[in-house]
Amino acid sequence: MKDALYFDTFGNMKWKIGAGIYLVIIFSSFSFNQENKLFNPTDNLSRVLHQLGEDHALHSLDYTEEQVLMGKQLVLEGRTVGPDGKRTRYVSKHYMCTTCHNTQREDPDLSVSEPETRLDYVKTKGIPFLQGTTFKGIVNRESWYNDDYVKKYGEEIVGKAHKNLRESIQLCAVECAQGRAMKAWEIDAVLAYFWTLEYNLADLDLSPEEWESINEKAIDNEAKIKLLKSKYLQKSPAHFFQSAADKKEGYPGLEGNPDIGKDIYELSCLHCHQQGGVSHYVLDSKALSFKDLAKSIPKNSHFSLYQIIAYGTYAIPGHKPYMPHFPAERMSKQQVEDLRAYIELKANE
Ligand code: HEC
Ligand code: HEC
Repeated sequence: MKDALYFDTFGNMKWKIGAGIYLVIIFSSFSFNQENKLFNPTDNLSRVLHQLGEDHALHSLDYTEEQVLMGKQLVLEGRTVGPDGKRTRYVSKHYMCTTCHNTQREDPDLSVSEPETRLDYVKTKGIPFLQGTTFKGIVNRESWYNDDYVKKYGEEIVGKAHKNLRESIQLCAVECAQGRAMKAWEIDAVLAYFWTLEYNLADLDLSPEEWESINEKAIDNEAKIKLLKSKYLQKSPAHFFQSAADKKEGYPGLEGNPDIGKDIYELSCLHCHQQGGVSHYVLDSKALSFKDLAKSIPKNSHFSLYQIIAYGTYAIPGHKPYMPHFPAERMSKQQVEDLRAYIELKANE
């Protein structure tokens, strides 16, 4: 590696001045803080946890600004220019990572994963409502491909990725994005970019009392770690759900709200199905789209909302683009009914 400015996972800057010799510039809240507080809103979460005694994550790394840029391009544009100066091939011919994942915060309360509050939140931010979890804070999580994903990809594949973010990135590139395997330097570049999306303490929305506890020297570190970890999810839960038993009836006891259904249609379905999107199946806000969708709802067809949302479609040889399904934490049965109500309303206008 040539001389370069590095950032470690604590946000410290390191200037490499010789083989193995670094000049470290510590951005310590402690040394700058007038009020002599232990922690500040801008402190990176991983750094605070480490200061309180937690081990480094397996995926922590020192990274350069160049790596962040390459990682950002891989995620947002699907390819980059490698350290050898050559343009890489696309990771996936079919999608960008952001076809299925946001890069911004998507939940008002980071300690719950709830599709209803998420939909409201992403709407105010003008970002889509998707199957994959956001990359914001992904380095702060401790496991990936949780719960029922083992059913989809099998123990052997998920087992490697479950506690390993690098392997999760690789799994997603190859399986979820139906792309090629990424090289080790590409995965590190993506990780470097992910580290720039880590939570800081301000993201955790601590109350004034909680701030006091965190900065109280008499309180032991273990209690502080526990408090911090109660403010965000260490994993994004994923439980699969079933299609309605009777598609004509829908999910029992739920009344759809077309106004909410409109948000789902626009922030989710159109994100991929609009003209020029990732799917051949083009939807818009004209009557034909709604009539087409509405007539399949009660049928035993993968065009039925109940089927497509709960199970998605699968990549087949010769046709790789597929639709990932929504786990219950990404779309609720109530929301499926809301979407149905909107589609049926528009189809009958
Ligand atoms: C076609 C949709 C799709 C594309 C494209 C895609 N992903 Fe995913 N990804 C998913 C789904 C669905 C999951 C599982 C749900 C989740 O996020 O937890 C997932 C999971 C992940 C996870 C684990 C998240 C977790 O908390 O479990 C990582 C890391 C990841 N993807 C990285 C990437 C990267 C990097 C790219 C681009 C190279 C990418 N993904 C492209 C759909 C996609
Ligand atoms: C992350 C991207 C993405 C999102 C979000 C998404 N879809 Fe899809 N969907 C796809 C892809 C890709 C296919 C595969 C279509 C193809 O073969 O071109 C597909 C297939 C379908 C199909 C079957 C079409 C066929 O030709 O087999 C239907 C119906 C469908 N989607 C409806 C929806 C609805 C309704 C929503 C909103 C809840 C939605 N999709 C959200 C990507 C997405």
